[in-house]
Amino acid sequence: MDQTFNLVKGEAWLQERQLAACAAARLCDQAGGPTGIGYGGARGGGKSHWLLAQMGVDDCQRVEGLKCLLLRKVGKANLEHFEDLRRKLFNRLPHEFSAFRGILTFANGSRIIAGHFQNEKDIDAYLGLEYDVIGIEEATTLTSRKYQDITTCCRSSKPNWRPRIYSTTNPGGVGHAWYRTKFVAPMLERRESDTRFIPARVTDNRWNNPDYVRVLEGLTGWQKRAWLDGDWDIAAGQYFTNFRRDVHVVEDFDDTRAVEWFAALDYGFAHYTVALLGCRDGDGNTFVVDEHAERLWLPQRHAAGIRVMLARHKIGDRKLAVEDLRRFVAGADVFSRQGDGTTVAQQYERQGIRLRAANMDRLNGWAELMQSFGEPDAGLAPENRVKPTIFIHSRCKRLVETLPTLQHDPNRPEDVLKVDADEDGIGGDDAADALRYLVATKARTITQRKLRGF
Ligand SMILES: Nc1ncnc2c1ncn2[C@@H]1O[C@H](COP(=O)(O)OP(=O)(O)OP(=O)(O)O)[C@@H](O)[C@H]1O
Ligand SMILES: [Mg+2]
Repeated sequence: MDQTFNLVKGEAWLQERQLAACAAARLCDQAGGPTGIGYGGARGGGKSHWLLAQMGVDDCQRVEGLKCLLLRKVGKANLEHFEDLRRKLFNRLPHEFSAFRGILTFANGSRIIAGHFQNEKDIDAYLGLEYDVIGIEEATTLTSRKYQDITTCCRSSKPNWRPRIYSTTNPGGVGHAWYRTKFVAPMLERRESDTRFIPARVTDNRWNNPDYVRVLEGLTGWQKRAWLDGDWDIAAGQYFTNFRRDVHVVEDFDDTRAVEWFAALDYGFAHYTVALLGCRDGDGNTFVVDEHAERLWLPQRHAAGIRVMLARHKIGDRKLAVEDLRRFVAGADVFSRQGDGTTVAQQYERQGIRLRAANMDRLNGWAELMQSFGEPDAGLAPENRVKPTIFIHSRCKRLVETLPTLQHDPNRPEDVLKVDADEDGIGGDDAADALRYLVATKARTITQRKLRGF
Protein backbone atom coordinates (compact mmCIF):
# COMPACT_ATOMS: atom_id res chain seq x y z
CA MET A 1 0.00 0.00 0.00
CA ASP A 2 2.62 2.40 1.15
CA GLN A 3 4.81 1.72 -1.89
CA THR A 4 1.90 2.07 -4.31
CA PHE A 5 1.04 5.35 -2.64
CA ASN A 6 4.59 6.63 -3.18
CA LEU A 7 4.59 5.61 -6.83
CA VAL A 8 1.20 7.18 -7.48
CA LYS A 9 2.13 10.36 -5.63
CA GLY A 10 5.31 10.62 -7.65
CA GLU A 11 3.36 9.75 -10.82
CA ALA A 12 5.82 7.03 -11.70
CA TRP A 13 3.60 4.77 -13.77
CA LEU A 14 5.60 1.60 -13.74
CA GLN A 15 4.82 -1.47 -15.81
CA GLU A 16 4.06 -4.95 -14.54
CA ARG A 17 7.60 -6.36 -14.49
CA GLN A 18 8.96 -3.15 -12.99
CA LEU A 19 6.36 -3.42 -10.22
CA ALA A 20 7.51 -6.98 -9.56
CA ALA A 21 11.01 -5.60 -9.09
CA CYS A 22 9.61 -2.93 -6.73
CA ALA A 23 7.92 -5.63 -4.66
CA ALA A 24 11.20 -7.53 -4.46
CA ALA A 25 12.95 -4.35 -3.32
CA ARG A 26 10.49 -4.03 -0.43
CA LEU A 27 11.36 -7.55 0.71
CA CYS A 28 14.74 -6.06 1.66
CA ASP A 29 12.96 -4.24 4.50
CA GLN A 30 12.26 -7.49 6.31
CA ALA A 31 14.78 -8.94 8.74
CA GLY A 32 16.09 -12.06 7.01
CA GLY A 33 14.92 -10.76 3.63
CA PRO A 34 17.14 -10.33 0.60
CA THR A 35 19.91 -7.73 0.42
CA GLY A 36 20.52 -7.91 -3.31
CA ILE A 37 17.93 -7.38 -6.05
CA GLY A 38 18.90 -8.13 -9.65
CA TYR A 39 16.85 -7.08 -12.65
CA GLY A 40 18.36 -8.35 -15.85
CA GLY A 41 17.95 -9.77 -19.28
CA ALA A 42 16.83 -8.25 -22.56
CA ARG A 43 17.85 -4.81 -23.72
CA GLY A 44 15.30 -2.07 -23.36
CA GLY A 45 13.18 -3.91 -20.81
CA GLY A 46 12.81 -0.83 -18.62
CA LYS A 47 15.45 -1.76 -16.06
CA SER A 48 17.19 1.60 -15.70
CA HIS A 49 13.86 3.36 -15.48
CA TRP A 50 12.88 1.04 -12.64
CA LEU A 51 16.14 1.48 -10.75
CA LEU A 52 15.87 5.23 -10.54
CA ALA A 53 12.15 5.03 -9.75
CA GLN A 54 12.68 2.57 -6.89
CA MET A 55 15.50 4.62 -5.41
CA GLY A 56 14.09 8.09 -5.93
CA VAL A 57 10.31 7.74 -5.91
CA ASP A 58 9.97 5.06 -3.27
CA ASP A 59 13.05 4.67 -1.02
CA CYS A 60 14.16 8.31 -0.86
CA GLN A 61 10.63 9.49 -0.12
CA ARG A 62 9.91 7.14 2.74
CA VAL A 63 13.16 7.56 4.70
CA GLU A 64 14.63 10.95 5.51
CA GLY A 65 18.26 11.59 4.79
CA LEU A 66 18.72 8.36 2.83
CA LYS A 67 22.02 8.23 0.97
CA CYS A 68 21.98 6.35 -2.33
CA LEU A 69 24.82 5.72 -4.74
CA LEU A 70 23.91 5.03 -8.36
CA LEU A 71 26.84 3.62 -10.31
CA ARG A 72 26.69 3.77 -14.07
CA LYS A 73 29.23 2.88 -16.67
CA VAL A 74 30.27 5.89 -18.69
CA GLY A 75 29.00 5.52 -22.19
CA LYS A 76 27.80 7.65 -25.01
CA ALA A 77 25.56 10.45 -23.78
CA ASN A 78 25.61 8.99 -20.31
CA LEU A 79 24.79 12.10 -18.32
CA GLU A 80 22.15 12.92 -20.85
CA HIS A 81 20.49 9.57 -20.21
CA PHE A 82 20.48 10.27 -16.47
CA GLU A 83 19.10 13.73 -17.13
CA ASP A 84 16.29 12.31 -19.32
CA LEU A 85 15.31 9.78 -16.68
CA ARG A 86 15.46 12.37 -13.94
CA ARG A 87 13.09 14.66 -15.81
CA LYS A 88 10.72 11.83 -16.60
CA LEU A 89 10.65 10.41 -13.10
CA PHE A 90 11.00 13.27 -10.65
CA ASN A 91 8.76 15.81 -12.31
CA ARG A 92 6.38 15.71 -9.37
CA LEU A 93 8.98 15.47 -6.64
CA PRO A 94 10.69 18.69 -5.56
CA HIS A 95 14.44 18.23 -5.73
CA GLU A 96 17.68 19.94 -6.54
CA PHE A 97 20.20 18.54 -8.94
CA SER A 98 23.79 19.61 -9.24
CA ALA A 99 24.94 18.31 -12.62
CA PHE A 100 28.48 19.31 -11.73
CA ARG A 101 28.61 17.20 -8.56
CA GLY A 102 26.13 14.65 -9.86
CA ILE A 103 24.07 14.85 -6.68
CA LEU A 104 20.31 14.93 -6.57
CA THR A 105 18.78 16.07 -3.28
CA PHE A 106 15.12 15.75 -2.29
CA ALA A 107 13.29 18.04 0.13
CA ASN A 108 13.62 15.55 3.01
CA GLY A 109 17.40 15.45 2.68
CA SER A 110 17.57 12.11 0.89
CA ARG A 111 20.17 12.04 -1.85
CA ILE A 112 21.11 10.12 -4.96
CA ILE A 113 24.77 10.39 -5.84
CA ALA A 114 25.30 9.63 -9.50
CA GLY A 115 28.65 7.88 -9.77
CA HIS A 116 30.25 7.12 -13.10
CA PHE A 117 32.91 4.68 -14.00
CA GLN A 118 34.72 3.80 -17.18
CA ASN A 119 36.93 1.08 -15.82
CA GLU A 120 36.07 -0.73 -12.66
CA LYS A 121 39.01 0.82 -10.82
CA ASP A 122 37.24 4.20 -11.16
CA ILE A 123 34.70 2.85 -8.68
CA ASP A 124 37.31 2.96 -5.93
CA ALA A 125 36.79 6.72 -5.75
CA TYR A 126 33.31 6.11 -4.32
CA LEU A 127 34.32 3.34 -1.96
CA GLY A 128 35.40 3.75 1.65
CA LEU A 129 32.21 5.69 2.36
CA GLU A 130 28.87 4.48 3.61
CA TYR A 131 25.72 4.22 1.50
CA ASP A 132 22.27 3.07 2.53
CA VAL A 133 21.40 1.91 -0.97
CA ILE A 134 23.67 1.17 -3.90
CA GLY A 135 22.34 0.81 -7.42
CA ILE A 136 24.59 -0.66 -10.08
CA GLU A 137 23.80 -0.38 -13.74
CA GLU A 138 25.24 -2.97 -16.11
CA ALA A 139 26.52 -5.04 -13.22
CA THR A 140 28.06 -7.71 -15.47
CA THR A 141 30.68 -5.21 -16.59
CA LEU A 142 32.18 -5.72 -13.11
CA THR A 143 34.18 -8.63 -11.76
CA SER A 144 32.85 -10.40 -8.70
CA ARG A 145 35.75 -8.94 -6.74
CA LYS A 146 34.60 -5.41 -7.47
CA TYR A 147 31.01 -6.26 -6.63
CA GLN A 148 32.25 -7.54 -3.29
CA ASP A 149 34.23 -4.35 -2.69
CA ILE A 150 31.06 -2.40 -3.31
CA THR A 151 29.11 -4.59 -0.90
CA THR A 152 31.39 -3.51 1.95
CA CYS A 153 30.29 0.12 1.46
CA CYS A 154 26.64 -0.75 1.67
CA ARG A 155 25.91 -0.29 5.38
CA SER A 156 23.60 1.89 7.36
CA SER A 157 23.44 3.50 10.75
CA LYS A 158 19.73 4.20 10.33
CA PRO A 159 17.66 2.07 12.70
CA ASN A 160 14.73 1.98 10.28
CA TRP A 161 16.68 0.87 7.24
CA ARG A 162 18.24 -2.34 5.91
CA PRO A 163 21.04 -1.63 3.44
CA ARG A 164 20.69 -3.21 0.01
CA ILE A 165 22.10 -3.34 -3.49
CA TYR A 166 19.95 -3.09 -6.59
CA SER A 167 21.50 -4.04 -9.90
CA THR A 168 20.44 -4.12 -13.53
CA THR A 169 22.23 -5.77 -16.41
CA ASN A 170 22.16 -7.60 -19.72
CA PRO A 171 23.72 -11.07 -20.13
CA GLY A 172 27.36 -11.08 -21.31
CA GLY A 173 30.41 -9.27 -19.98
CA VAL A 174 33.24 -10.19 -17.62
CA GLY A 175 30.76 -10.55 -14.79
CA HIS A 176 28.37 -12.86 -16.62
CA ALA A 177 29.35 -16.02 -14.76
CA TRP A 178 29.23 -14.72 -11.18
CA TYR A 179 26.07 -12.74 -11.81
CA ARG A 180 24.37 -15.80 -13.19
CA THR A 181 25.47 -17.86 -10.19
CA LYS A 182 24.52 -15.26 -7.61
CA PHE A 183 21.22 -14.02 -9.02
CA VAL A 184 19.89 -16.04 -11.95
CA ALA A 185 20.53 -19.65 -10.90
CA PRO A 186 18.88 -19.33 -7.44
CA MET A 187 15.81 -17.89 -9.17
CA LEU A 188 15.67 -20.67 -11.76
CA GLU A 189 16.18 -23.32 -9.09
CA ARG A 190 13.68 -21.70 -6.70
CA ARG A 191 16.13 -21.41 -3.84
CA GLU A 192 16.52 -17.66 -3.46
CA SER A 193 17.50 -16.45 -0.01
CA ASP A 194 19.60 -13.27 0.13
CA THR A 195 18.87 -12.32 -3.49
CA ARG A 196 15.89 -11.89 -5.77
CA PHE A 197 16.12 -11.85 -9.56
CA ILE A 198 13.60 -10.40 -11.96
CA PRO A 199 14.07 -11.53 -15.58
CA ALA A 200 13.57 -8.78 -18.14
CA ARG A 201 12.06 -9.18 -21.62
CA VAL A 202 12.01 -6.56 -24.32
CA THR A 203 8.24 -7.09 -24.50
CA ASP A 204 7.89 -5.95 -20.86
CA ASN A 205 8.29 -2.37 -21.97
CA ARG A 206 5.58 -0.86 -24.10
CA TRP A 207 7.58 2.36 -24.39
CA ASN A 208 10.15 0.84 -26.70
CA ASN A 209 9.63 2.04 -30.22
CA PRO A 210 8.92 -0.71 -32.78
CA ASP A 211 12.13 0.11 -34.65
CA TYR A 212 14.16 -0.73 -31.55
CA VAL A 213 12.52 -4.13 -31.24
CA ARG A 214 13.20 -4.72 -34.93
CA VAL A 215 16.88 -3.94 -34.39
CA LEU A 216 17.02 -6.60 -31.68
CA GLU A 217 15.16 -9.06 -33.91
CA GLY A 218 17.72 -8.44 -36.65
CA LEU A 219 20.55 -9.64 -34.40
CA THR A 220 21.98 -13.12 -34.82
CA GLY A 221 23.43 -15.91 -32.66
CA TRP A 222 24.03 -15.34 -28.96
CA GLN A 223 23.37 -11.61 -29.22
CA LYS A 224 19.83 -12.31 -30.26
CA ARG A 225 19.33 -14.85 -27.49
CA ALA A 226 20.83 -12.54 -24.88
CA TRP A 227 19.53 -9.14 -25.89
CA LEU A 228 16.13 -10.05 -27.33
CA ASP A 229 15.18 -13.05 -25.22
CA GLY A 230 17.27 -12.25 -22.12
CA ASP A 231 18.77 -15.75 -22.22
CA TRP A 232 21.46 -16.30 -19.54
CA ASP A 233 22.66 -19.64 -20.89
CA ILE A 234 24.62 -18.14 -23.75
CA ALA A 235 27.95 -19.03 -22.18
CA ALA A 236 27.14 -22.72 -22.33
CA GLY A 237 28.32 -24.37 -25.48
CA GLN A 238 28.73 -23.55 -29.11
CA TYR A 239 29.55 -20.01 -30.21
CA PHE A 240 28.37 -19.95 -33.81
CA THR A 241 24.98 -21.57 -33.29
CA ASN A 242 23.94 -19.96 -36.55
CA PHE A 243 26.64 -21.67 -38.63
CA ARG A 244 25.00 -24.33 -40.79
CA ARG A 245 26.95 -26.69 -43.01
CA ASP A 246 24.06 -27.09 -45.45
CA VAL A 247 23.74 -23.32 -45.83
CA HIS A 248 27.23 -21.88 -45.50
CA VAL A 249 29.42 -24.55 -47.06
CA VAL A 250 29.32 -24.61 -50.85
CA GLU A 251 30.72 -27.20 -53.25
CA ASP A 252 31.19 -25.00 -56.30
CA PHE A 253 32.25 -21.48 -56.82
CA ASP A 254 32.97 -19.88 -60.15
CA ASP A 255 36.01 -17.63 -59.66
CA THR A 256 34.90 -15.32 -62.45
CA ARG A 257 32.10 -14.09 -60.16
CA ALA A 258 34.68 -12.39 -57.92
CA VAL A 259 34.81 -8.61 -58.09
CA GLU A 260 37.64 -8.33 -55.59
CA TRP A 261 40.05 -10.70 -53.89
CA PHE A 262 41.59 -10.59 -50.41
CA ALA A 263 43.42 -12.91 -48.04
CA ALA A 264 44.21 -13.28 -44.36
CA LEU A 265 46.84 -15.12 -42.38
CA ASP A 266 47.03 -16.39 -38.82
CA TYR A 267 50.65 -17.22 -38.11
CA GLY A 268 51.96 -20.07 -36.01
CA PHE A 269 54.88 -22.45 -35.94
CA ALA A 270 53.95 -25.13 -33.39
CA HIS A 271 50.36 -24.05 -34.01
CA TYR A 272 48.94 -24.00 -37.49
CA THR A 273 49.64 -21.22 -39.90
CA VAL A 274 46.35 -20.71 -41.71
CA ALA A 275 45.95 -18.54 -44.79
CA LEU A 276 42.50 -18.00 -46.27
CA LEU A 277 41.67 -16.64 -49.70
CA GLY A 278 38.37 -14.84 -50.08
CA CYS A 279 36.52 -12.75 -52.58
CA ARG A 280 33.42 -10.65 -52.84
CA ASP A 281 30.83 -11.12 -55.54
CA GLY A 282 28.72 -8.43 -57.19
CA ASP A 283 25.96 -8.85 -54.59
CA GLY A 284 28.28 -8.13 -51.66
CA ASN A 285 28.53 -11.74 -50.49
CA THR A 286 31.87 -13.02 -49.23
CA PHE A 287 33.17 -16.38 -50.42
CA VAL A 288 36.08 -18.05 -48.71
CA VAL A 289 37.33 -20.11 -51.61
CA ASP A 290 40.56 -21.69 -50.41
CA GLU A 291 42.78 -22.33 -47.43
CA HIS A 292 46.39 -23.16 -46.74
CA ALA A 293 46.90 -24.78 -43.33
CA GLU A 294 50.16 -26.38 -42.18
CA ARG A 295 52.27 -26.44 -39.05
CA LEU A 296 55.95 -26.86 -38.16
CA TRP A 297 56.87 -25.09 -41.41
CA LEU A 298 59.05 -22.00 -41.82
CA PRO A 299 57.66 -18.87 -43.49
CA GLN A 300 59.56 -19.56 -46.72
CA ARG A 301 57.81 -22.87 -47.19
CA HIS A 302 54.43 -21.42 -46.20
CA ALA A 303 54.89 -18.60 -48.69
CA ALA A 304 55.45 -21.16 -51.44
CA GLY A 305 52.36 -23.07 -50.30
CA ILE A 306 50.29 -19.89 -50.25
CA ARG A 307 51.45 -19.06 -53.78
CA VAL A 308 50.27 -22.49 -54.90
CA MET A 309 46.90 -21.77 -53.33
CA LEU A 310 46.70 -18.39 -55.07
CA ALA A 311 47.73 -19.94 -58.37
CA ARG A 312 44.77 -22.32 -58.16
CA HIS A 313 42.68 -19.19 -58.64
CA LYS A 314 44.95 -17.66 -61.27
CA ILE A 315 46.36 -15.14 -58.81
CA GLY A 316 50.07 -14.67 -59.29
CA ASP A 317 50.01 -15.57 -62.97
CA ARG A 318 50.32 -13.04 -65.75
CA LYS A 319 46.71 -11.85 -65.56
CA LEU A 320 46.53 -11.15 -61.83
CA ALA A 321 49.56 -10.48 -59.65
CA VAL A 322 49.71 -11.27 -55.93
CA GLU A 323 49.86 -7.49 -55.42
CA ASP A 324 46.41 -7.28 -56.99
CA LEU A 325 44.86 -8.78 -53.92
CA ARG A 326 42.88 -5.98 -52.39
CA ARG A 327 44.51 -6.81 -49.08
CA PHE A 328 46.48 -9.57 -47.40
CA VAL A 329 46.18 -9.14 -43.65
CA ALA A 330 47.77 -10.93 -40.73
CA GLY A 331 47.58 -10.92 -36.94
CA ALA A 332 49.74 -8.41 -35.04
CA ASP A 333 52.28 -11.07 -33.99
CA VAL A 334 53.87 -11.21 -37.45
CA PHE A 335 54.89 -7.56 -37.13
CA SER A 336 56.60 -7.85 -33.76
CA ARG A 337 60.38 -7.99 -33.74
CA GLN A 338 62.02 -11.26 -32.91
CA GLY A 339 65.35 -11.76 -31.13
CA ASP A 340 67.35 -11.01 -34.28
CA GLY A 341 65.45 -7.76 -34.92
CA THR A 342 63.53 -9.05 -37.94
CA THR A 343 59.84 -9.76 -38.21
CA VAL A 344 57.93 -12.68 -39.69
CA ALA A 345 56.23 -10.18 -42.00
CA GLN A 346 59.64 -9.30 -43.46
CA GLN A 347 60.28 -12.94 -44.19
CA TYR A 348 57.00 -13.15 -46.09
CA GLU A 349 57.77 -9.92 -47.91
CA ARG A 350 61.00 -11.41 -49.16
CA GLN A 351 58.86 -14.14 -50.70
CA GLY A 352 56.69 -11.57 -52.44
CA ILE A 353 53.81 -11.54 -49.95
CA ARG A 354 53.23 -8.18 -48.35
CA LEU A 355 51.16 -8.46 -45.19
CA ARG A 356 49.16 -5.67 -43.59
CA ALA A 357 48.01 -5.55 -39.98
CA ALA A 358 44.60 -7.08 -39.42
CA ASN A 359 41.94 -5.63 -37.20
CA MET A 360 42.65 -7.36 -33.88
CA ASP A 361 39.47 -6.42 -32.03
CA ARG A 362 38.16 -9.86 -31.07
CA LEU A 363 34.69 -8.97 -29.85
CA ASN A 364 33.76 -6.81 -32.81
CA GLY A 365 35.38 -9.31 -35.18
CA TRP A 366 33.35 -12.23 -33.86
CA ALA A 367 30.21 -10.12 -33.84
CA GLU A 368 30.73 -9.18 -37.46
CA LEU A 369 31.37 -12.78 -38.42
CA MET A 370 28.29 -13.93 -36.56
CA GLN A 371 26.18 -11.31 -38.27
CA SER A 372 27.44 -12.44 -41.67
CA PHE A 373 26.36 -16.03 -40.98
CA GLY A 374 22.87 -14.57 -40.56
CA GLU A 375 20.01 -16.46 -38.99
CA PRO A 376 19.19 -18.95 -41.73
CA ASP A 377 17.34 -21.54 -39.66
CA ALA A 378 14.59 -23.00 -41.83
CA GLY A 379 12.57 -23.58 -38.65
CA LEU A 380 12.23 -19.81 -38.17
CA ALA A 381 9.36 -17.81 -39.55
CA PRO A 382 10.53 -16.06 -42.76
CA GLU A 383 10.39 -12.62 -41.13
CA ASN A 384 12.77 -13.78 -38.40
CA ARG A 385 15.41 -15.13 -40.77
CA VAL A 386 18.45 -13.01 -41.48
CA LYS A 387 20.12 -13.63 -44.83
CA PRO A 388 23.65 -15.05 -44.66
CA THR A 389 26.31 -13.08 -46.53
CA ILE A 390 29.29 -15.38 -46.11
CA PHE A 391 29.90 -18.80 -47.67
CA ILE A 392 32.84 -21.17 -47.43
CA HIS A 393 34.07 -23.60 -50.07
CA SER A 394 34.20 -27.19 -48.84
CA ARG A 395 37.90 -27.41 -49.73
CA CYS A 396 38.60 -25.16 -46.70
CA LYS A 397 38.53 -28.28 -44.55
CA ARG A 398 40.20 -26.94 -41.46
CA LEU A 399 37.98 -23.88 -41.31
CA VAL A 400 34.79 -25.85 -41.83
CA GLU A 401 35.81 -28.27 -39.08
CA THR A 402 36.80 -25.50 -36.67
CA LEU A 403 33.75 -23.23 -36.77
CA PRO A 404 31.20 -25.55 -35.13
CA THR A 405 33.66 -26.54 -32.37
CA LEU A 406 34.21 -23.02 -31.06
CA GLN A 407 32.85 -22.36 -27.58
CA HIS A 408 31.95 -19.27 -25.62
CA ASP A 409 34.59 -18.13 -23.16
CA PRO A 410 32.76 -18.66 -19.85
CA ASN A 411 34.46 -15.63 -18.34
CA ARG A 412 33.63 -13.41 -21.26
CA PRO A 413 30.76 -15.03 -23.15
CA GLU A 414 30.83 -12.63 -26.07
CA ASP A 415 34.34 -13.88 -26.83
CA VAL A 416 35.38 -17.23 -28.29
CA LEU A 417 37.28 -19.46 -25.88
CA LYS A 418 40.88 -19.76 -27.07
CA VAL A 419 42.00 -23.30 -27.80
CA ASP A 420 45.23 -24.77 -29.13
CA ALA A 421 45.48 -27.76 -31.41
CA ASP A 422 46.55 -30.97 -29.68
CA GLU A 423 49.81 -32.81 -30.41
CA ASP A 424 48.26 -34.43 -33.45
CA GLY A 425 47.18 -31.09 -34.80
CA ILE A 426 43.52 -31.67 -34.07
CA GLY A 427 41.40 -28.74 -32.91
CA GLY A 428 42.68 -25.22 -32.39
CA ASP A 429 41.16 -21.89 -33.34
CA ASP A 430 43.74 -20.69 -35.87
CA ALA A 431 41.46 -21.05 -38.88
CA ALA A 432 38.72 -19.09 -37.11
CA ASP A 433 41.17 -16.30 -36.24
CA ALA A 434 42.19 -16.10 -39.89
CA LEU A 435 38.53 -15.87 -40.91
CA ARG A 436 37.93 -13.13 -38.34
CA TYR A 437 40.84 -11.13 -39.79
CA LEU A 438 39.51 -11.70 -43.30
CA VAL A 439 36.04 -10.44 -42.44
CA ALA A 440 36.78 -7.71 -39.91
CA THR A 441 39.54 -5.87 -41.74
CA LYS A 442 38.13 -3.36 -44.14
CA ALA A 443 39.74 -2.53 -47.45
CA ARG A 444 41.36 0.80 -47.95
CA THR A 445 38.60 2.98 -49.25
CA ILE A 446 38.32 3.47 -52.98
CA THR A 447 38.74 7.21 -52.55
CA GLN A 448 42.08 6.75 -50.84
CA ARG A 449 43.30 4.58 -53.66
CA LYS A 450 41.94 6.96 -56.24
CA LEU A 451 43.56 9.91 -54.51
CA ARG A 452 46.86 8.15 -54.62
CA GLY A 453 46.24 7.43 -58.30
CA PHE A 454 45.73 11.10 -58.95
N1 LIG B 1 7.13 2.78 -16.88
C1 LIG B 1 7.65 3.54 -17.83
N2 LIG B 1 7.06 4.69 -18.18
C2 LIG B 1 7.58 5.47 -19.16
N3 LIG B 1 8.69 5.17 -19.84
C3 LIG B 1 9.33 4.04 -19.54
C4 LIG B 1 8.85 3.16 -18.52
N4 LIG B 1 9.69 2.10 -18.44
C5 LIG B 1 10.66 2.31 -19.34
N5 LIG B 1 10.44 3.47 -20.01
C6 LIG B 1 11.27 4.04 -21.06
O1 LIG B 1 11.67 3.03 -21.99
C7 LIG B 1 13.00 3.25 -22.43
C8 LIG B 1 13.87 2.03 -22.16
O2 LIG B 1 13.89 1.78 -20.77
P1 LIG B 1 15.25 1.57 -19.98
O3 LIG B 1 16.31 2.49 -20.46
O4 LIG B 1 14.90 1.62 -18.54
O5 LIG B 1 15.55 0.08 -20.43
P2 LIG B 1 16.78 -0.85 -19.98
O6 LIG B 1 16.18 -2.16 -19.66
O7 LIG B 1 17.56 -0.17 -18.92
O8 LIG B 1 17.59 -0.93 -21.33
P3 LIG B 1 19.16 -1.40 -21.53
O9 LIG B 1 19.13 -2.88 -21.45
O10 LIG B 1 19.47 -0.92 -22.91
O11 LIG B 1 19.94 -0.74 -20.44
C9 LIG B 1 13.49 4.49 -21.68
O12 LIG B 1 13.31 5.61 -22.50
C10 LIG B 1 12.58 4.54 -20.48
O13 LIG B 1 12.46 5.83 -19.95
MG1 LIG C 1 19.58 0.40 -18.85
